[in-house]
Amino acid sequence: MIALAGVPSGKSTGSHEARELRDEDGRGVTRAIAAVDGEISSMLVGREWSSPEEIDAALIALDGTPDKGRLGSNSMLGVSMAAWRLFAMEEGVELWRYLANKTGYTPRMPRIFSNVINGGVHANMRLPFQEYMLIAAADTVRESFDELYKLFTDLRHTLEQETRAMVPMGDEGGYSPTFDTIDKPFEILSGLIKGHPHFSLAIDAAASELFENGAYHILGKTYSRDELLVVYRGLAARYPLESIEDPFAEDDTQGFAAITEALGGTRLIVGDDLTVTNKTRIQSAIEAKLANALLVKPNQIGTISETLEAIRLAREARWEIIVSHRSGETKDTFIADLAYGIGAYGLKAGGLTQQERLEKYERLIEIERQISR
Ligand code: PGA
Ligand code: ZN
Repeated sequence: MIALAGVPSGKSTGSHEARELRDEDGRGVTRAIAAVDGEISSMLVGREWSSPEEIDAALIALDGTPDKGRLGSNSMLGVSMAAWRLFAMEEGVELWRYLANKTGYTPRMPRIFSNVINGGVHANMRLPFQEYMLIAAADTVRESFDELYKLFTDLRHTLEQETRAMVPMGDEGGYSPTFDTIDKPFEILSGLIKGHPHFSLAIDAAASELFENGAYHILGKTYSRDELLVVYRGLAARYPLESIEDPFAEDDTQGFAAITEALGGTRLIVGDDLTVTNKTRIQSAIEAKLANALLVKPNQIGTISETLEAIRLAREARWEIIVSHRSGETKDTFIADLAYGIGAYGLKAGGLTQQERLEKYERLIEIERQISR
């Protein structure tokens, strides 16, 4: 049996994430490949392994650092994902079923969080917030996807009319126009989904990227924490904005606490750079009520076992789970199985013009077909 895995990489990474191993030029991954072929495979080969958790624990021990900096979260995660796949294959079950059995969660189709307008560092800061997403929650994922696809095409026409130009694309396969007000993308997207009851809006402000010298910088203006909260309250009041990710910088716990108190009763306040799929950070965020939803990115932590522990912790606190891709993706579809298998609220997998994003949505549709047979 052979199991493969592809590992993604982020551009707007949280500073508390596990460390990738890169070459001296900061780009290549020959050192990470050498770690897998060398140290990791010497440890793995020729031994009996009884579970993927056992392999993950051995990887963590072999690395021996708190941030996976020695072997690299990229080397470790690829091996971990392949190990989970291999054990599922050996049991003769789909990966999502294996993950559901292991965790005891009931599988459920996630809502699709599709990043249709890309800003922030994914688009050279042409727009202040990093991601403007449509949340699709039709009765089936097939219907969600089909409707989303139509809206995505309509959006291009609207944006071309508004900006009177060809619209450039961002890193995550969404459009990347320029506007000079915070509200404009929200006006356009709420107009777009009018009459589409299964749709609402989400953003990832990725506010760590907006934060400098103690303040937030948006479209040439400076906002204090309190002023930025007023901005979010206004957006939530004016538009069908259901979910706000990283509204404040990763260590601005006061900002997160304030918005969770103000809007957390009716909106999702999602931790990404705040929590980095790390159980220590998640535990503190739960205790201080800094969010009510967790973005889950396996490569922020480096093994699937730890990813599942992070999910368990958040779910015990009744947080919603949104499983997520990275801006630098591969065609690997592990996260689609993970989102379905653990019954996540959402799967965030980007816009609809890049094959590596579409693969995730297609995998959900394939799973839907499997379960309806
Ligand atoms: P990244 O951004 O993959 O570029 O880090 C994604 C996100 O912030 O959610
Ligand atoms: Zn994010």
